[in-house]
Amino acid sequence: MIEGKDISLVYGDGTKALRGVNIAISKGQLAYIIGPSGSGKTSLLKLFMGIEYPTEGELKVLGLKMQKGQEANIRKLRRLIGPVFQEFKLIKGRTALENVMLGLRFLDMPSKMIKEESKNALIKVGLSHKIDTVVEHLSFGETQRVAIARAVARKPALILADEPTGNLDVDNALNIMSLLASFRNENTAVIITTHATHLLDNIDQGEIIKVENGIIKMESRGAVQ
Ligand SMILES: Nc1ncnc2c1ncn2[C@@H]1O[C@H](COP(=O)(O)OP(=O)(O)O)[C@@H](O)[C@H]1O
Ligand SMILES: [Mg+2]
Repeated sequence: MIEGKDISLVYGDGTKALRGVNIAISKGQLAYIIGPSGSGKTSLLKLFMGIEYPTEGELKVLGLKMQKGQEANIRKLRRLIGPVFQEFKLIKGRTALENVMLGLRFLDMPSKMIKEESKNALIKVGLSHKIDTVVEHLSFGETQRVAIARAVARKPALILADEPTGNLDVDNALNIMSLLASFRNENTAVIITTHATHLLDNIDQGEIIKVENGIIKMESRGAVQ
């Protein structure tokens, strides 16, 4: 599903965001990427989304090789993943439903089905009562749920959520974590990044991948000890 060997990522200004990363995430796995701010969590997700390419090393996501010059692979990948961005990237002036539908517009799906699947996703994230609300009129937590609905509506093989618990209080943060984890199944892996390690104290499922200063420090299965 994801296989990375000796990956490094150096940004244009020379910042070494990731160094010597070896990582394996299997089909249908739940994984949490944790680490302090600036450690490389977003950079890692950007590699998995095909937004950045490894400077060195080899990366395959869903069997597709991620490297510069492989645009066809990147396009294929984008149809198969459900990204939840830190800044949500929702479109203002549009309703929750329209935003989720827009997320499906590049898939080969009849428009009637797009609407149906989008509604279903909004219901699954607990927003059945806000389907026709313009996104600016939603609370932070509700906005986040729209972003999650947009990601899951396409039934992706991989859901990638970057700091989805952002500014939420602990209760809401845990709700969002378990909502995301609930979309994991045999065909869908879920990867969640967070700097809020205390949120994982109550979580007893999934793999924990610790990033520190661009290096993977520890991988463990099960609960954080
Ligand atoms: N586009 C960029 N250009 C240059 N440096 C960047 C860029 N994005 C992130 N960085 C740097 O890469 C390092 C890792 O950042 P990031 O992956 O965003 O960490 P995290 O998500 O864990 O907070 C940091 O030092 C950050 O300043
Ligand atoms: Mg980040």
